[in-house]
Order: sequence, then C-alpha cells, then structure tokens
Amino acid sequence: MNDKNLIIFDTTLRDGEQSPGASMDVNEKMKIAIALEELNVDIIEAGFPIASAGDFKSVQEISKIITGSSICALARALDKDISTAAESLRDAKFPRIHTFIATSPIHMEKKLKMTPGKVLSTAVAAIELAKTFTDDIEFSPEDAGRSELKFLCEVIEAAINAGAKTINIPDTVGYNLPHQFGELIKNIISNVSNSDKAIFSVHCHNDLGLAVGNSLSAVLNGARQVECTINGLGERAGNAALEEIVMTVRTRQDVFKCDTSINSKKILKCSRLVSSITGFPVQPNKAIVGKNAFAHESGIHQDGIIKSRETYEIMRAEDIGLASNSLVLGKHSGRNAFKQKLIDLNIMPKDDIAFDDLFYRFKDLADKKHEIFDEDLINLSSNVKVSVNLINFNYMNIVTETNKKPHAHVKLSINGILEEAKATGDGAVDAAYNAIESIVKSGCKLTLYSVNNITSGTDAQGEVTVRITKNNSVFNGHGADTDIVKASILALVNALNKFKENPEANSSKKRGI
Ligand code: KIV
Ligand code: ZN
Repeated sequence: MNDKNLIIFDTTLRDGEQSPGASMDVNEKMKIAIALEELNVDIIEAGFPIASAGDFKSVQEISKIITGSSICALARALDKDISTAAESLRDAKFPRIHTFIATSPIHMEKKLKMTPGKVLSTAVAAIELAKTFTDDIEFSPEDAGRSELKFLCEVIEAAINAGAKTINIPDTVGYNLPHQFGELIKNIISNVSNSDKAIFSVHCHNDLGLAVGNSLSAVLNGARQVECTINGLGERAGNAALEEIVMTVRTRQDVFKCDTSINSKKILKCSRLVSSITGFPVQPNKAIVGKNAFAHESGIHQDGIIKSRETYEIMRAEDIGLASNSLVLGKHSGRNAFKQKLIDLNIMPKDDIAFDDLFYRFKDLADKKHEIFDEDLINLSSNVKVSVNLINFNYMNIVTETNKKPHAHVKLSINGILEEAKATGDGAVDAAYNAIESIVKSGCKLTLYSVNNITSGTDAQGEVTVRITKNNSVFNGHGADTDIVKASILALVNALNKFKENPEANSSKKRGI
C-alpha cells in the first residue's frame, strides 16, 4: 500500500440516497456515477442491491459503464444480500462487496438479538461467502464508534483472517469527538495483530457536525480510506463531505502526509449536479461549494484581496472548478470562444452532437439573458434530458393580479398532438400545474418542489426540481429558465415524461431491511 495515497470512497449513491427525500432514479444515478468517475474517486458505492429493484438495477447499470473507479455494493452479513450484491456487480471491471454487521452492545442486544460470539461468526461467514465472488471485500463493524474496543479488535482480526482487505470503522450515529475517534483508530491499528494486512477506512456521520473533523483526525492516526458524499448528503444529518475532506488534505499538506487522486477542478460541477438531481440546495455559506465560499463582501476584505489574494483566501477558486472571473459569454460569442470556455470549465461533451446540442442551448439562453456566467454553463451541461419526450411544452399564458386567483393557460404537445387547458390555482405555479394535470391526468402526487437560483440578479436562471410519486414509484424532474414559472413547467413535464415512459420504474419500496 502506498502510504501517501488517501483513498476516496464515495457513498453519495448509497448512504447519500438514504437521506430522507433524496431518492434518485437509475438514469440520475448513472449521471452522478459518471461525474464521480470524472472526479477520479477511487471507489463508488453504487447502492444496496437487496433493498429494492431500483437499487439492484442502478448498481447493475453503473457496473456496465464505469471503468475508472471500483464499483461497490452494500450487503448485510446475510447470504441473500451477498449473492444479490455479487449478481448486481457481475459486469463491474473492479467489483467490491461491502458487508457489515453491528458490534456495539446496544445494536447486538436490541437490534440483532445476537450474542457477541454469533456476531463474530456471522461476520466471518459473510466475508468467506463474499470472497467466493470477488477478492475485494470491505467489512464494517456497524456502530464501531460505540463498540467495546476489545471485542471490536477481535472481530476485525477475524475479518482480516477471513479475507477482508478493507476494514471500515463507522461512527454510525455521529457520536464521537475528533480526539476520541483518532485515538480509536490508533488503538485498533496497534491492537489488531494482523492490521498490516488491511487498509483502514472511516465512515463518519454528521449528527454533531463533526463528520469531517472525525474523519480527518482518523487520517492523522492511520486511516487510509475515507468514506464521504458530495455536499455531505446522507442519512439524517449526513456523512462527511467529500469536498471538505479533499480540500482540507490538499490545502494543509504541512499537516497531512498523504493526498487524494481527486481532480478537484470537477468538485463544483459534481456538487451542482447532485444538488440539482436531489433538489437539495447547497447552503450559501457551505465550505468549498457554497455560493459565498469564495465571495468577498466587506470593503476591508476586498481591498486585501486586490492587494494580494492570499490575505483572505487559503484556496484558489479555480482549484474547485470556479473560474476566477466568472463572467463569460454573451449572445455574440462564437463556437471557438464557447469551446475554449468549456475546456476552461472542464466540461467535455462526449461527441460533436453533444457539443452542438450544448452550443444551441447556450445560444437560446443568451437570447434571454444578457450575461452568461460559468454557473449557467455548468448547469446547462448537467441538465438531465429524457431521450424521446412523449410530452413537450408548447405555450403558457399566466395571469396574476392582486385580489384575483392566478390563472394559467398551458399548451402541451402529447405524442405530437397539441392539447391545451386552463386552470386557476393558489399561485402562478399551482395554476400551471393544475392545467397540466388536467391534460395529462397522471394521478401523480407532487412530493417535492424546490427552486434554486443559478446565478444572482433578477435575470438569473431559476432551476426547479420536482418529485412526483404514484404507487411507491418516484420520478424527479428538472427545468431551468430565466422565467421561474416556465422552469417549473419544464420540471414537471420532465418528471411526467419519466412517469409515462415507465410508471412502475424507480419503485422506492424497500424490501423490509
Ligand atoms: O453508517 C453506517 O454504519 C453505515 C454502514 C453500512 C457502513 O452506513
Ligand atoms: Zn452510514
């Protein structure tokens, strides 16, 4: 093992998706997996295949297309979980099975109702079974942060003997403090007799806001893999944020004697993509990827920055993919300027057709919006498109007037035939949505509606994310436009197209785990 390499294990698609309300469909997960591969993450945890048909399919499809990162599937220490995980990973170039069982007294007694001896033998049997499918096995003693050190070390020693190559220490409930967690990692590594035969990893939750601090303390005490998520997405208060881990280690090379292989210039693009797909906005003051992370408002700070950037900046905005001068192109910009800007932003359309598509969408936007910013281009390049649309937006007329109910007239083309409806509602968007539903008659329920401005100013593009559900199936839709009502209509039409394509897809029903 190269001691200088800090392995980045991204679990946005597994633990991140466990975030309440963050469910994603297979296409969206594939899009994020591609972005994670471009970011150069070492391992992508793509899902928990036994949990649902959608999870299984996501791991299966991601395994087919990703070759630059290992693909990992999660499995409890149960035969059916492990064989399902193995089946979903069949096409992966570098497959990893991650199996886990809890080792804390409270989890063993109350949740598993197993004795410590039974937990240990179950863990060993699971690893041995997983080994029959792939050599790359990761084992997690769940709730390690509240487990007894002696028993934890016994289980880990047995797990390594059974063939686990990576031992992941989760602080499942985000209970630890940085100095404690660092000490825990140091103690495990020195007490486990065969610790030199495995890579030690950490997986910290953010219940007390300490996930990144705990992970970094673990790295200073011998951990060589960190499990994290884009924007810190994850169960409850989330997981350690990938961007914070990566940029701290890189910025403080005087302290950390290791570094990651992450292409940090792709961080912002990835963050925006995850935020737009899940509909979870990034708070403006969020470290590294928040809109204000590199903005200087006060006169004293601005003066200092003009004299010398280092007075108030410890990182360069360019290093996370934000161009220092973010004002870019206008409606008269040509293909060459556009191409150069894409190169500067690390946006690489996969072929000439994709480039042309992006160029024409940029021109459309430039017609409506005087100044096009980097953020606009990043968003345009990440916009999710449905291949063949059954439903297309055609026309809208929205009237809002004081003391009168808002009124919408919407025309959609359904399978090439123009249909229209008029409706009222509690607001402009509600009226438009009522008109659309009276045309489409989907019977879907709107379970999420989120608006985010892509840049600032009243002519900024608004990005709308919606989620609609029917019979436990979930469909996300996205739309962006300088007109917020139009963006809202485009988002709903996008979701309805996915629903019409396959109403049974993306079932969020989990199989009793
Ligand atoms: O938080 C946790 O303990 C987990 C395990 C499955 C690693 O997510
Ligand atoms: Zn977790």
